[in-house]
Amino acid sequence: MPQPQALVPLGARGMISPCSYYIERRRFRPGPPPTLPQPQLSPRLLRLIHAEPLATAAVLDLGCGTGRLALALAPHAAWVCGADWSEAAVLAARRQAAAAGLTNCEFRIADAEAIDYDALLPAAGAFPRWDLIVAHLCMADAMIERAAQALAAGHCLCFVAFHGDQWSETGRRSRFAYDEEQLAQVLAAAGFRVEFLGVEQEIVSFESAEIAFSHYFTAGDLVQRWQEDGRLEGLRSYFAAGGRTFTAKSHVIVKARRVA
Ligand SMILES: C[S@@+](CC[C@H](N)C(=O)[O-])C[C@H]1O[C@@H](n2cnc3c(N)ncnc32)[C@H](O)[C@@H]1O
Repeated sequence: MPQPQALVPLGARGMISPCSYYIERRRFRPGPPPTLPQPQLSPRLLRLIHAEPLATAAVLDLGCGTGRLALALAPHAAWVCGADWSEAAVLAARRQAAAAGLTNCEFRIADAEAIDYDALLPAAGAFPRWDLIVAHLCMADAMIERAAQALAAGHCLCFVAFHGDQWSETGRRSRFAYDEEQLAQVLAAAGFRVEFLGVEQEIVSFESAEIAFSHYFTAGDLVQRWQEDGRLEGLRSYFAAGGRTFTAKSHVIVKARRVA
């Protein structure tokens, strides 16, 4: 198993201020479990969210998936709505909310790049506007623009997005990936002031390509998907050319406040 080292804040690297970089480097050593790590909810994002007055807040979670973030926030918030365009994910989130006995949250099937977020407010009219909009590993320019329309001045958008370096060794970039400068520009153009912008990376190094492909890139849905869409082939080419590191995680974490 890779041995985690302490996160090291490296200070400002680019043009963004405030901007922090946290890079964790691990040397891979074969051992169980022999697979890619599943991304966890970002503790840094949770801290940024919890600094807001959650107890009275109506919170909207964009691209909620099976509800990880929304379900973690519901016990602390007045109301939470998770929105995702995947019916299967929304049904799973509803089941989890019911199993946890949560009555202050709902999950809606919606395209977060196309819908007016006011349409997702609870029907009873208890909340005239969203107080806080969040997202974990789902972000697009259209979501930032819609969040700006939905939030009153002084209210926050807090999210984690894929950074352009994520899995860059596969040779393909996610359409949802952002770089720091690009993200800062989109946020400013939409009417947000950035209060925190940080990049969290996890870089794994391997002794050999053989070890990487016989112990690390071996199993799970992700490797299966990469096999189908050609990214595994891209990764093999990178290792064949002498590459020995892999950017297992590269996330941008943002807290931005709507200005008048
Ligand atoms: C990487 S998953 C993250 C899920 C969840 N936030 C979490 O951290 O567990 C991205 C999610 O965004 C959803 N998604 C992507 N684009 C979307 C859109 N335009 N509208 C709604 N959901 C979207 C996907 O269906 C998927 O559930």
